[in-house]
Amino acid sequence: MARSTQRVSTLGVLCFAAAALAGCRGQTSRETPVFGIRNMYDQPRYDVQEEGDGKLFADKRTMRPLPEGVIARETEIDPRIARGRLEDETAYVQEIPKEVVTRMGGMQPMLERGRARYDIYCAPCHDGTGSGEGLVKQRAEAAGAAAFKPPTFHQDRLRHIPDGQLFATISNGKSNMPPYGAVVPVNDRWSIVAYVRALQLSQAKLPQESKP
Ligand code: HEC
Repeated sequence: MARSTQRVSTLGVLCFAAAALAGCRGQTSRETPVFGIRNMYDQPRYDVQEEGDGKLFADKRTMRPLPEGVIARETEIDPRIARGRLEDETAYVQEIPKEVVTRMGGMQPMLERGRARYDIYCAPCHDGTGSGEGLVKQRAEAAGAAAFKPPTFHQDRLRHIPDGQLFATISNGKSNMPPYGAVVPVNDRWSIVAYVRALQLSQAKLPQESKP
């Protein structure tokens, strides 16, 4: 007798547990939600770009215009670093600004970063070696877009353009090449410049080889 009562109560506990678990499956409820502090849930606010009633700001704009001359904290203001141009804007910087190399932790980590970024952003068109024969180029050619021609980096003109010009090309793009200024951060763009230079050096003829 005692044993069967025990069995029944075990069964009861199991049924209860099963029912409780079934009820925990996250169905949505039709019951009105319970709010502890209602006015923390319903707070007066404006949406982005919404017009106000003029009580908060007389011009009825609820978003404030930026004060003149304001810049974002992370904006690079040195023109040599931000645009690859000399302070007086007369020309491109010849070399990667030293400050950038320092903040990248030296040339070795900078080259490694540049290689990783190059392989993502540039290799699809320019190819991993800089030959200009990337997959996008091959597909463009197959599709009849013969005008789409990324140049090889292994040519005299591109070997001799200033580092700043290379940086500006990455930042602003050039004819069929898209700009990367808004996509790739400043330090990464300079790292790519360093890596493109390394690619060029890897195939450059040493002075004695180029003698006739
Ligand atoms: C969507 C394909 C594409 C991608 C991606 C691309 N490029 Fe280009 N790139 C081109 C094309 C096309 C040209 C030739 C532009 C022209 O007609 O002058 C070019 C030209 C260049 C030139 C030569 C500029 C000159 O002075 O003639 C450089 C340097 C260069 N790209 C570097 C890069 C680097 C570095 C990246 C990666 C950040 C990159 N490109 C990403 C397509 C691309």
